[in-house]
Amino acid sequence: MASRFLLLLLLLSLLLIGNCIEEDETTTIKTTMEQFSGYPAADPSQEIHSIPVDSLALQQQIDELSTFSDSAAPSVTRILYSDNDVVARRFIKNLMGRAGLSVREDAVGNIFGRWEGSEPDAPAVSTGSHIDAIPYSGKYDGVVGVLGAIEAINVLNRSGFKPKRSLEVIMFTSEEPTRYGISCLGSRLLAGSVSLAKALTQTVDNANISFLDAAKSAGYAENEDFSSVFLDEKSYSAFVELHIEQGPILENEGISIGIVTAIAAPASIKVGFGGNGGHAGAVLMPQRNDAGLAAAELALAVEKHVLESGSVDTVGTVGILEVHPGAINSIPSRSHIEIDTRDIDEKRRNTVIEKVHESAVSISKRRGVDLLEFKIVNQDPPALSDDSVINAMESAAQLLGLSHKKMISRAYHDSLFMARKAPMGMIFIPCYKGYSHKPEEYASPEDIAKGVKVLALTLAKLSINS
Ligand code: GLV
Ligand code: MN
Ligand code: MN
Repeated sequence: MASRFLLLLLLLSLLLIGNCIEEDETTTIKTTMEQFSGYPAADPSQEIHSIPVDSLALQQQIDELSTFSDSAAPSVTRILYSDNDVVARRFIKNLMGRAGLSVREDAVGNIFGRWEGSEPDAPAVSTGSHIDAIPYSGKYDGVVGVLGAIEAINVLNRSGFKPKRSLEVIMFTSEEPTRYGISCLGSRLLAGSVSLAKALTQTVDNANISFLDAAKSAGYAENEDFSSVFLDEKSYSAFVELHIEQGPILENEGISIGIVTAIAAPASIKVGFGGNGGHAGAVLMPQRNDAGLAAAELALAVEKHVLESGSVDTVGTVGILEVHPGAINSIPSRSHIEIDTRDIDEKRRNTVIEKVHESAVSISKRRGVDLLEFKIVNQDPPALSDDSVINAMESAAQLLGLSHKKMISRAYHDSLFMARKAPMGMIFIPCYKGYSHKPEEYASPEDIAKGVKVLALTLAKLSINS
């Protein structure tokens, strides 16, 4: 009798969901109220709870968002406050509205979609990521954590869930440092960076467009007070970010879900050298002080110091190396390089920074060039996930019958900064060959659906129980 009733319920819910929802059977949630205490079904007597993810619609949204790009498909380039960024923001706000969320934006364009819970004054449970994309990158980095979060809200809505703590989806402004050289700009400000709030009023991009002008052109920064972005201490009780792994571990090991326990400590440095320049034929080698060669030598020194750490966890990249005037028959009179170095061990990462600085000084002396700039743009500590969020993510993955493992994030994320304001956790899903920051980046609809389900259940649990 009981099993017939259950079957009837299942059929009824499938009918209601309709054909448009692509539900892969392996991840259909069959969970009991005892297994997931605190998750309220629409009907408390309901013992089988099916949470469908609309994979078809989600993939269409990912594809459509990828067309708002400054480079041709399959690559995506979406730079802060560009026309395509503004269109993409409109797209996100529209989806948030359609999901029933009330939408607001702050002075730098962090976008918040809120589902008011039955305890509206309690700190909310938040989730989200970014949609800006570095030049010639892919369509999943960050996007999965924004569109996936909106779909997680849809999933909870469809399932009849009623939040106790409010739920918020956040689209963070400029996680990527592309335009103004500052990573996680939106979340860094939300976390209360006074120095950034001040610096933004003076910052210009490579085309000499000020942050203020760019922000205003996108409809933000009306009152020019970026401290207005800082979060109150009691805004959030938890923050969870869904993201592609950007590494190969989950795919290689055939595991569906990564439970992130820590985020590595990133730092970025800008260095400038200046020399006399001159004619490529007429100035003889002993007379030269070539700023380009100083930069090249420093780039090699970065690799050397990183390798000296002796740990595979220490990494360093020179992703920008520019020489002026940039003519084949002119000795570079100025050079500019930008260095990204990271480690899960902050002290070890800082040792690399010190050694790179010593090298920059000694190279400039030896080559007779001026060290015009050695600026540590950011030197962020690592962040640890909170046990309460880890437990919620793990129990959600278990209930869904999904294989999962604990892992660290070697990429940085807005979660690094949200961890300063709320207990934090991250859900990773596999991506093809671990590719990221290039057009080949790919995550399958099935893997994304699994991540969305884990996110939905985690949010539900944190909304009700924490
Ligand atoms: C984020 O995109 C990073 O560079 O880790
Ligand atoms: Mn990225
Ligand atoms: Mn990202």
